[in-house]
Amino acid sequence: MDATRIIEEALDQFGQDFTARFEAATTEQALRDEKATVLGKKGKLTEILKQMGRVPPEDRKRIGERVNALKEQVETRFSERLAALRNLRRQAELSAPPFDLSMPARIPTPRGHLHPLTQTQSDLLAIFRDLGFLAVEGPEVELEEYNFTKLAFPPDHPATDMQDTFWVSVAGAPSGARTLLRTHSSAVQIREMTRRRPPMALVSTGAVYRRDDDITHSPMFFQMEGFLVDHRVTFGHLKAVLSTFAERFYGPGTRTRFRPSYFPFVEPGAEVDVSCVFCGGEGCRICKYTGWIEILGCGMIHPAVFEHCNLDPEALTGFAFGLGVDRIAMLRYGISDIRLFYENNPRFLAQF
Ligand code: DAH
Repeated sequence: MDATRIIEEALDQFGQDFTARFEAATTEQALRDEKATVLGKKGKLTEILKQMGRVPPEDRKRIGERVNALKEQVETRFSERLAALRNLRRQAELSAPPFDLSMPARIPTPRGHLHPLTQTQSDLLAIFRDLGFLAVEGPEVELEEYNFTKLAFPPDHPATDMQDTFWVSVAGAPSGARTLLRTHSSAVQIREMTRRRPPMALVSTGAVYRRDDDITHSPMFFQMEGFLVDHRVTFGHLKAVLSTFAERFYGPGTRTRFRPSYFPFVEPGAEVDVSCVFCGGEGCRICKYTGWIEILGCGMIHPAVFEHCNLDPEALTGFAFGLGVDRIAMLRYGISDIRLFYENNPRFLAQF
């Protein structure tokens, strides 16, 4: 058989072959692999064309044209098959069962939670809400008048030294008014007693600021304030509310004791201790072997404060208390350095 015949038969065979191979490919990758086998540098056609050298010159043009036509056919069939495969895949996707977006992930997603101070704050608020107190908010930038003057801190009274703070200027503040970052939540008393009429029983939590910074004091920390104003409110009511609170927060059997203390805006004033939650009152390192832990300040609202809020001190009485949320949380979780609350280190926060 002459070289021309051999090569023509090989090309016939090639023509049938590649169509069958393309049809048999069921994925895009398989199809591309087949195309490489057929047309690639080491492919079947290259193999056949190695024989061209032996074809007589007068036949070469015809065979060359045939080869070009075949190459074009390969490209066309390839594109057709590719489109068909893509179409099949799309059809399969469309008729497959839909994604179940509610299916649990295979890798469990770590769950976030409230910051320990936020948790403590909302547990405290919940107890007072149950007792009938309404939760309100006050601004962190406060008038000096509300933070000190109307709470009966005399100007330049040494008590304001303990509450040295950050003075700020605020656009739009009443002229001549000095503004500061509030040093305690007690300012909320003035705000609310000026705009509401008794009876009222309110609690308020939020950030307060002082020029303090050590392992138990942070320049910003959180307080909760509570107060109740009505006719004939007595110290007995105050004791009832705070001892109920202590038992609900620290557990049944928790005892409270009231020690006389001074705060300019209450008379009489007291500090409240609870029986040590760690040793039950026997004495331990945390309660410094006293059996008691101080948790808050309180007292009967001073008549001068009522006057400053245009309330009648002859007709009304009330009590107030204020506690440090950070301190309560530190005791609750056994944390010795307050700064941990504000560093936002996930390894610390993950432990709550
Ligand atoms: N405001 C006080 C402080 O930051 C705490 C306090 C004491 C609040 C007695 C009160 C109170 O309402 O009656 O040190």
